[in-house]
This record gives sequence, structure tokens and C-alpha cells, in this order.
Amino acid sequence: MELLTDPFGRVHDYMRISVTDRCNLRCIYCMPAEGMQFQPHDEILSYEEIASIVKALAPAGLRKIRLTGGEPLVRRDLERLVEMLAGIPGIEDLSLTTNGLLLPGKAASLKAAGLSRVNISIDSLRQERFAMITRGGEVAKVLKGIEAAQAAGLSPIKLNVVLMKGINDDEIKDFVALTLNNPLNVRFIEYMPIGSATDTWRQTYLPLERVLEACREAGWETEPAHSSAGGGPSQDRRVAGAQGTFGLIHPVSEHFCDNCNRLRLTADGHIKACLYWSDEYNVRPLADDPEAVRALFRKALAGKPHNHEMALALEKKAQSHTPTARRMSQIGG
Ligand code: 5AD
Ligand code: SF4
Repeated sequence: MELLTDPFGRVHDYMRISVTDRCNLRCIYCMPAEGMQFQPHDEILSYEEIASIVKALAPAGLRKIRLTGGEPLVRRDLERLVEMLAGIPGIEDLSLTTNGLLLPGKAASLKAAGLSRVNISIDSLRQERFAMITRGGEVAKVLKGIEAAQAAGLSPIKLNVVLMKGINDDEIKDFVALTLNNPLNVRFIEYMPIGSATDTWRQTYLPLERVLEACREAGWETEPAHSSAGGGPSQDRRVAGAQGTFGLIHPVSEHFCDNCNRLRLTADGHIKACLYWSDEYNVRPLADDPEAVRALFRKALAGKPHNHEMALALEKKAQSHTPTARRMSQIGG
């Protein structure tokens, strides 16, 4: 069967599925402090609908799935979805992006259901600051979640750190230090202007060159490392002799889009061929018709722009399409 390609020849074998727009935290870059309108339960795809969409796409080359949110672990009985997806022929890699809070109670059952691995978001190691960024979270609980994931054998574990100028950029060294004696992959991610006030974003955005500079200041020599499971846009490096690695993800400043293989499915059943733009296609009404599902994904891909234009937003220049009105919590990163 024909693969899921776009007009630029990019083959899409990876889909990020948001299973809920709800979350047990309120990170400053992701959701407003108050007044977030959550999608009603009956507007959210059922596990059966998600599984039949994935079943329709697997013969067209879909290989990798990541479950995201909001916070995916606040959706009841996520293990049931994991088990359904893990059993679909062709799906080779099934992962989850989580804030880690609920992992202590769920890591073992997720692993047993067929989850391969997890990415855990953690933007500060200092409690006061972590509470400020997440509006009330406890970093000790995330650390417990990381331990639980390791104990359950959900490996390799990746930690996502969104780097923000004046907020957590003095912790680069502390995060890289975590990789010295622990086989973790810490990924520094540039802060993206999605659904956030663009002016505060401009003040907080920090290019990732700062990470390598901080390593030099710490006296660490770093070398390129093999990319860990899942591949993706991270350029991985290792401090000489370290057990773990760290990676740089440049969604804003580099050629992040050139090899884009990512599709997105929102919790309310909309296909997004690109996280940045407003273009969306509602696949929910077609969920149990595999031919129609594939046709709609191909239509979404036919209109996929070559790249986002976040850099133009940084320079306050006009853009060619309309950016999405969704918050990050409604897209899933
Ligand atoms: N820029 C960069 N990363 C973001 N994330 C959420 N919002 C943003 C943003 N504006 C990250 C989260 C999580 C992943 C799903 O996306 O921290 O790790
Ligand atoms: Fe929740 Fe993740 Fe958004 Fe933070 S970034 S509010 S943990 S969904």
C-alpha cells in the first residue's frame, strides 16, 4: 500500500495521539492559570475509535505511536488503550509523554500492557521553581515517577526540559549532571510560541547553543552520541564517560521540519499534519471506515506546509498561513 507521504516526499510513520486535554498540572507555557475550557467527555475519541484509526494507518506504514495529553495518565484505564495499540500488527514502538506524577502507581501496569518507554517532562529540579513553572507541582513526585519507570523497565527514559531564559537556564549543568551516573537521556527543548502570549515568549525564548556553552563552563568535554530508541529530532551528545546522554531539540532555530515524519491526532479526533498551523481534519465520523480514514490522512498530508514559521514570529514578520488557536495541552506537543 502507498505510504503516508506529503508533497515534499516526507514519509510519515509516526503519530502523536493526544488522549485528553486535561492535566493535573498547569505549566505556564501550556495552559492558562484559570478558565481553561476542557473538552466534554463525549467529544473525546473512545479507545475503540483511536484503535480503529491506528489499524487503518498501520498498513500504510504507521510504525510509531506516542500517547500525549494534556496528561495522558489522567485518562481512566489508559492501560486498556496501550494493550489495544500494542496488539496492532505493524506498530513497533509505543511510547508515552507524561509529567510523571502518576507513574508510581502505573509504570508496572503500563509496561505489562505493552508500553515500550516514556518521556517525562521536568523543567526544574528545584522545588520552589518547579512549583512556579507547573503552578503547584511537587518535583519530588516526578523524581519518584522517574524511579518507578526505571524499576518497571520502561527504557530508555527521556526527560524533557523546556529551556526558558531567566527561568531555568541556570539549571543546565544540574540536568546534564543527572546523565553522568544514570542512563537517562535529558532533552533540552527550545520554547515554542504555541498558544502562548508571543510577547512573553520572545522574552523567554533561548536558543540551545547555551547548553553546550554551559557544558564548557562546567569543564565537561562532550561528544556526539548515538541517537536512542525512537530517533526523532534530538541531536544527542554525551559528556565523556557519562552513562547517559543529553540531546538538543531545536524546533524554532534549526531545520526541524526538513525530515518531519510526524502526524498528530487531537483528543477530539482532528488530524493535524503540522503542530503549528490551524489546518485540521475531523476524522472521528469516519473512524470505523479504514479506507476513508486513510483518504482523510492523505488529504491532510497533501496540504501539509513545508515548515512552521516560528522564527518569523520571533522577528514579528508576517506569516503565510494562520497559526493554530489551540493550546499546547490540546495538541500534545
Ligand atoms: N515549547 C516547547 N515545548 C513544550 N512543551 C509543552 N509546551 C511547549 C512549548 N511551548 C513540551 C512539554 C512536554 C512536551 C509534550 O512538550 O514540556 O515535555
Ligand atoms: Fe500538564 Fe504537560 Fe501541559 Fe504541564 S506541559 S500543564 S504537565 S500537559
